[in-house]
Amino acid sequence: KKVGFIFDLDGVIVDTAKYHYLAWRKLANELGFEFSKEQNELFKGVSRKRCLEILLDIGKIKATQEQFDTWMIDKNVDYLAYIEKMDAKEILPDVPRVLEYLKKKNIPIALGSASKNARPILEKVNLVSYFDSIVDGNSVTKAKPDPEVFLIAANNLGVNASSCIVFEDAVAGIQAANSAKMTSIGIGDSDILDEASYNFKDFTEISDSFLESLLSKKSK
Ligand code: BG6
Ligand code: MG
Repeated sequence: KKVGFIFDLDGVIVDTAKYHYLAWRKLANELGFEFSKEQNELFKGVSRKRCLEILLDIGKIKATQEQFDTWMIDKNVDYLAYIEKMDAKEILPDVPRVLEYLKKKNIPIALGSASKNARPILEKVNLVSYFDSIVDGNSVTKAKPDPEVFLIAANNLGVNASSCIVFEDAVAGIQAANSAKMTSIGIGDSDILDEASYNFKDFTEISDSFLESLLSKKSK
C-alpha cells in the first residue's frame, strides 16, 4: 500500500510558535491583560479566529465585530513583522534530513497546516520543493481538531487516510490526525501530546531506522 507523510508547519518544521505567541501577547498587553506561555499551548494548531476568541475569553473582553476584525488584522501584521527576516536557519533540527530521506524513497509528502501564512513561510525557508501538496488555512473550512486539513492532504497525495503518518506539535493536531485514522507522531512534550501514537522531543530523535520500520509496517 502507498504510504504518505503529512507535516504540520508551525512548531514542527519551523519554530514560529514563539512568534505567534509574541504577537498574541502584544495584543493582550495592549488590551490590558497578561498572556502566558502555558495559555499559549491552547493556541497551537488552532485557527487565527479561534485563537482570538480564546484570547478575549482569557481577558474577559467583549468585542464588537469591527473590533474583532481589527484585532485579527493587528495580530497578523505583528506576526508578519516577526517572521519577515526568517530564513533557512529557522528550520528545526533534522527536519531536512527526514524530508530528504522520504524524498529519496519517493514517498509523497504534504503540508497540513492551519496557517494562512504557510506558503510564504515555506518559501522563506526554501522547503517548498519537498511538498507534493500544500494544504493550509486558506484551503479548509473546519479547523483542527477537525480532520479536514489532513483528509484533503491525503486525498491530494492519492493515499488512503489510514496509510498517512502525521507529524504534529499541537494537541488539536494530534486529535485531528487520530480522528482521520492516521498514525500521529507528537513532536514536543509527551505529557502534553499523550494522545499521539508515537512521541519524540524533536526530529533529532527520529532515526532513519525508525522511519524505515514505520514505512514497512504501514505499507503492509
Ligand atoms: C497554526 C498555529 O499552525 O496556525 C496556530 O499553530 C495559528 O498558533 C494558526 O493560530 C493560524 O495561523 P495564521 O498564520 O493563519 O494566523
Ligand atoms: Mg503546529
